[in-house]
Amino acid sequence: MRKKIVAGNWKMYKDKNGTIELISSIKLLMNESSPKREVVICPPFLSIDLAKELIKDTDIHLGAQNCYFKNEGAFTGEVSPQMLKSFGVEYVILGHSERRTYFNEYNSLINKKIKAALENGLKPIYCIGETLAEREDNKTFNVVNEQIVEGLEGITKEQMKDIVIAYEPVWAIGTGKTATPAQAEEVHQFIRELIGKIYGTETAEELTIQYGGSVKPENAADLFSQPNIDGGLIGGACLKADSFWAIVNA
Ligand code: PGA
Repeated sequence: MRKKIVAGNWKMYKDKNGTIELISSIKLLMNESSPKREVVICPPFLSIDLAKELIKDTDIHLGAQNCYFKNEGAFTGEVSPQMLKSFGVEYVILGHSERRTYFNEYNSLINKKIKAALENGLKPIYCIGETLAEREDNKTFNVVNEQIVEGLEGITKEQMKDIVIAYEPVWAIGTGKTATPAQAEEVHQFIRELIGKIYGTETAEELTIQYGGSVKPENAADLFSQPNIDGGLIGGACLKADSFWAIVNA
């Protein structure tokens, strides 16, 4: 049975006090842990260590939002996967559309980051998805195909066990426009079939494919009940404990 994972991508929100407040509020809402789903929070780098301490008595997992593809060196301003690992980080979001758009990241660069993350024992959450123009141009499947083939180039079947894919249509991120469950499911199914062609059906069936893009408490249950949607990558709605936890419960 593949895992359902709800991950909160805090983006560039929450300072030190905000980190303490949000995690404390989440902890107040947590009931007993459920083996059926996994919860991950991905705060900014500066809050990683503090977040690790605050979640230590919970079953919440820790993720980062990016990393470089080298373990150390003269790369001013970058953070390495080896450093993240040493701070107890388990997941790392890679290839998010905001990184692709504002920081010029592209598939072959993200591929290097995915490999470096895996070599350091981190689990990449690899984000893919089409822009509105690409969707309107009927290029969704081509774009997603290219992101999978180029982004996962050289990744072995064994390594695929540690990868999560997040399908995030760019037009749905932070816009309040969610893909309908049917629109999302169609692409998720395509992704699973593609992974099946490359790695075999067993790997495809075990792969967690999250949906991301304006997931809210009101639409989460419908999205997550689709057969190929295995949880979500949550932006805006993860910044408040009650909406994040409502999505986890969905
Ligand atoms: P959103 O962001 O939930 O605010 O649309 C999702 C994401 O960027 O991962």
